Amino acid sequence: PETITVQELANRMAERGADLVKALFKMGSPVTLTQTIDQDTAELLVTEFGHNIKRVSESDVDIDTSADVDAAESLQPRPPVVTIMGHVDHGKTSLLDAIRGAAVVSGEAGGITQHIGAYQVSLPDKSKVTFLDTPGHEAFSEMRARGANVTDIVVLVVAADDGLKPQTVEAINHTKAAGVPMIIAINKIDKPEARPQRVREELLQHEIVVEQLGGDVQDVEVSALQKTNLDGLLNAIHLQAEILELKANPDRASEATVIESKLDKGRGPLATVLVQRGTLRVGDVFVAGAQSGKVRALTDDKGRQVKEAGPAMPVEVLGLSAVPSAGDPFTVVENEARAREVAAYRQSVLDRKRTTAAPVSLENMFASKA
Ligand code: GTP
Ligand code: MG
Repeated sequence: PETITVQELANRMAERGADLVKALFKMGSPVTLTQTIDQDTAELLVTEFGHNIKRVSESDVDIDTSADVDAAESLQPRPPVVTIMGHVDHGKTSLLDAIRGAAVVSGEAGGITQHIGAYQVSLPDKSKVTFLDTPGHEAFSEMRARGANVTDIVVLVVAADDGLKPQTVEAINHTKAAGVPMIIAINKIDKPEARPQRVREELLQHEIVVEQLGGDVQDVEVSALQKTNLDGLLNAIHLQAEILELKANPDRASEATVIESKLDKGRGPLATVLVQRGTLRVGDVFVAGAQSGKVRALTDDKGRQVKEAGPAMPVEVLGLSAVPSAGDPFTVVENEARAREVAAYRQSVLDRKRTTAAPVSLENMFASKA
């Protein structure tokens, strides 16, 4: 009989492997990413996933992309999506800036870098890494609650002179709950008060055993300020990404997730989206949350106009009718009629929710108690 590894199925569904492992666990089949499952289980999982996790198939009007499994031959390696987390002032922004500065290829150095909340850097071997710019723990868990698991790897920044702090622990818990592999960046090692070994020991209390202590969580000492060992951190990310075997089908109608959005005075509603699978192109008709639209322009993280964006590439989209929410699915559909139909359906679902959630008044508070 046909079998498939969990990771391979995840790639073909454009979902995260960890989410499939969790779903399987709930279904009573504890397996790991690299283990194989049979075809029946795979089919059951696809159905379960579409219905229970994404909850988008409330009607056949809506789009259930989870059930849309790409052919194995269509998959190509894609860059990992990395989120940097950590306690206030431990150096997340400095580290991101240092990495961006260090990894930007010389040709791009002169360009004005536009902040779009997500960016890609190229490694010496030409492979790429996508970083999500400091979304904060709330944004991370909010997106996760909405089923938008876009992060493949979390880099946890811990200042070596300060050790584990409340927000570090929060980040650890969020990361564990999301099932995302973690890399520990022990920052500020340039400081005389730096005690990296203490950080490693403190991590043990949270069941994180780093490589230096014989475990399997990579730990890297860095200084964002002095740009020390950024290569080491990028290598660790590269290594972790290779283990994950991240792939996606670039040749299909695109499916993406809204990372952030805003209303620009001059240009109107803008959304930064991260492509999950397929290639997003100028002219594509899409549904984003309960909005429909047509891509009028795409801007990359360097502020350049691009014609298309493939898997794991963040781009800013112009052509929305209104501002979508972070975590909203952004899906390319065949034509404008279909886009309007799906958008209208989703809007009706939202309206229904709004009217059924009665406002709290003294009257209904007492009524519900009675
Ligand atoms: P929030 O966004 O406020 O949570 O902070 P953050 O984690 O982004 O920290 P940020 O990068 O703003 O750095 C906080 C302070 O630490 C700044 O004054 C940085 O200059 C300093 N800092 C960051 N990295 C290093 C480092 O490697 N060594 C030293 N000595 N200072 C650093
Ligand atoms: Mg910051």
